[in-house]
Amino acid sequence: MSSAARTWWKEAVVYQIWPRSFQDSNHDGIGDLPGITQRLPYLAQLGINVIWLCPMFSSPNDDMGYDISDYQGIMDEFGTMEDFDTLVETAHSLGIKILLDIVVNHTSDEHEWFKQSRSSRENPYRDYYYWRDSSGIDEDGNPLPPNNWGSEFGGRAWEYDEHTDQWYLHIFSKKQPDLNWENEKVREEIYTMINWWLDKGLDGFRLDAINIISKPEGLPDDPNIDFDKHGSSIPFVVKNGTKVHQWMHELNLKTAANYDVMTVGEMSQTSAEDAVQFAGFDTEELNMIFHFEHMGVDTDPTTGMGKWSIKPYDLVDLKEVLNTWQTTLQGRAWGSLYWNNHDQPRLISRFGDDSPQWRVLSGKMLATTLHGMQGTPYIYQGEEFGMTNVQFEEINDYRDLDSLNLYEDMVVERGNLSHDECMELIYAKGRDNARTPVQWDASDNAGFSAVEPWIKLNPNYREINAASALEDQHSLFYHYQKLIQLRRGELKDLLVYADFVPLDVEDAQVYAYERHAQDGSKLLVISNFTDQQLTREYGLLDQGELVLSNYEDDMRQTLRPYESKMYRVNAL
Ligand code: GLC
Ligand code: CA
Repeated sequence: MSSAARTWWKEAVVYQIWPRSFQDSNHDGIGDLPGITQRLPYLAQLGINVIWLCPMFSSPNDDMGYDISDYQGIMDEFGTMEDFDTLVETAHSLGIKILLDIVVNHTSDEHEWFKQSRSSRENPYRDYYYWRDSSGIDEDGNPLPPNNWGSEFGGRAWEYDEHTDQWYLHIFSKKQPDLNWENEKVREEIYTMINWWLDKGLDGFRLDAINIISKPEGLPDDPNIDFDKHGSSIPFVVKNGTKVHQWMHELNLKTAANYDVMTVGEMSQTSAEDAVQFAGFDTEELNMIFHFEHMGVDTDPTTGMGKWSIKPYDLVDLKEVLNTWQTTLQGRAWGSLYWNNHDQPRLISRFGDDSPQWRVLSGKMLATTLHGMQGTPYIYQGEEFGMTNVQFEEINDYRDLDSLNLYEDMVVERGNLSHDECMELIYAKGRDNARTPVQWDASDNAGFSAVEPWIKLNPNYREINAASALEDQHSLFYHYQKLIQLRRGELKDLLVYADFVPLDVEDAQVYAYERHAQDGSKLLVISNFTDQQLTREYGLLDQGELVLSNYEDDMRQTLRPYESKMYRVNAL
């Protein structure tokens, strides 16, 4: 495919749904598939044309659906296969495509394959997973794990199974055993399963944690692991292993390449140069990937605490990351654009200012900054009307195993952190920030459910909710709607296809860049990331026609707090 090729997935705007917290239709406090179907007209009004649906497969929910026990079944709490088919049909009738979230680095330990696998060393499914002998015994005679790898959610990446006297590998929780991709049968099962869904009419998929499927030969120790700290990050040595490109190519060839679908791979610790191969225009692996580099700008690597460290971010660093991704991929590969998702804090609390005075303005500023770039933009549920992070006082009000494990480890067991210190980390980085129910309106339980939901609501739902955003023509919702309209319509050539040119990379207060289209037309995007009034000069400012702003009038060189604007300059 040539780099200039136009495709629907380059022009798409994706909306991410995390079903458990989207909409409850049968009043058990848990979001479900019919709930999503009910809300499709709202998404059509927003203007998005693709949904990324987080896992809705059968699951014991140790990791909220990312632990799948049956790839062809629907999670009981979410409804039935019939409900799923109705959702897809209704979405299609509204011009909305649906991507599934395929989790195949691991399964649930309750998946039939794993039940078989653990039953005996001779079982034909044994080799579907990573089983290894102990590396020795400790002073008390207890078996020692095969290597020093830690799990993303804290603790060891190995679980000892007395029954067969071996350990199995789990990079995530111990209820998420890693599949052995070296085994051709495993890969064939996965491709068959993916095709089963594509034959059903699905429009593509996200591949969860897909760059860690190729483990290093011999499973060597990871020199970076430090168990004295709660590192909780994936062992560095499993990243982008030697066979991952080969397998992505094979997966593509045997699945997506035979359909008109879109694919995106989730890949932490992956650089823009890596992405040129993973998502290259002619590498035939994936259409695009999610990288994590900008998610690291407020993390302090010197603490050894992984994501559980907080540092104010510097705009110059953020620009450097995003600009590098823009310019490295340009003409060679396609990218994705996101500020948040179900694993990350809410964007306004993290990169903007969620105080009542600046919440909407800074939210619009962040939206314009990202949607002005090249790549396929993703909007996470509630982002479009400005949901914010949450702060519950009690650890018992949290549901995410990642936060619960941190608390158990650091406060209860080791006493390295006080309750308050640990809660500060969870407030800043915990995944439940993104997982409180969508705030549809100001009624009890926010229109999410008639009963108390599975996780508490953010108490600010009486002010911040979709209904009040829909009533206010200056709301964030209509700003997103406008950005989507411009991208899918009038400004398609500029927003989707034009080259990206960074401006003033050392400016620590303003993010500015241009887009240059082949026909000579240009776009200038300027965002003030501070609550100060600033003055800036840009070459195109005087010739530009304002197409979008978060203020009602335009003062050109004067940038008011969080002011963000987009100017178009037509070709001569
Ligand atoms: C991905 C998912 C995350 C999950 C993990 C394990 O990072 O986005 O929610 O916990 O993979 O499947
Ligand atoms: Ca329900």
